[in-house]
Amino acid sequence: MPPSKDSYSVAVIVGSVSQPSLNRRLAGALAVLAPEAGLELTDVPIDDLPFFGAHMESKEDYPQVGRAFKRAVDDADGLLIVTPEYNRSIPGVLKNAIDWASRPDGESSFPGRPTAVIGASGGEISTAVAQNHLKAILTSQGAVVLGEPEAYIHCEDGLIDDQGRVTDASTRTFLAGFLASFRDLIERF
Ligand code: FNR
Repeated sequence: MPPSKDSYSVAVIVGSVSQPSLNRRLAGALAVLAPEAGLELTDVPIDDLPFFGAHMESKEDYPQVGRAFKRAVDDADGLLIVTPEYNRSIPGVLKNAIDWASRPDGESSFPGRPTAVIGASGGEISTAVAQNHLKAILTSQGAVVLGEPEAYIHCEDGLIDDQGRVTDASTRTFLAGFLASFRDLIERF
């Protein structure tokens, strides 16, 4: 096992281009809690990725925007995906970003990558179905996906304030534990 680091870098993909976004708010709260877990979270935007098509996947000529996106994911120690649920699955913008990261053929960003998934919605079962789909996609790509704890955040107004502070103590403790488990996963891989 490689020696432990004081802090691990984590690339964060938020699967929403909405303004405002509940899930971006959740990502902000995680960024505030992350240093205590020994993690440093950096947002990797997906808004500027065009729709991916197989004609784009030349190894020699992979579009620059895709190369830059993959580099941001590849350079980090771990990947955190914060996803909304759209119609009981992941939003198309997130699937598009995953497709970009998975190519060109033979150069996927996912194999062996420690990856955690979390998501927020106002719905009763939150983002459980979307996360189930997302974990299946990530596992099929060879990512090492955090199994426990599962993190389906039922978000009501005021749960996360404008400074990214979680106002409910039990949710704050849960999120801190989620980040600590993710750090353990990164450390093991
Ligand atoms: C939703 N929403 C939603 N919520 C949920 O819990 N399960 C679902 O299947 C859906 N489906 C769905 C489809 C579409 C097209 C939209 C626009 C919304 C509600 C969703 O959770 C809510 O809009 C969140 O605020 C989306 O997250 P962001 O974009 O705010 O981070």
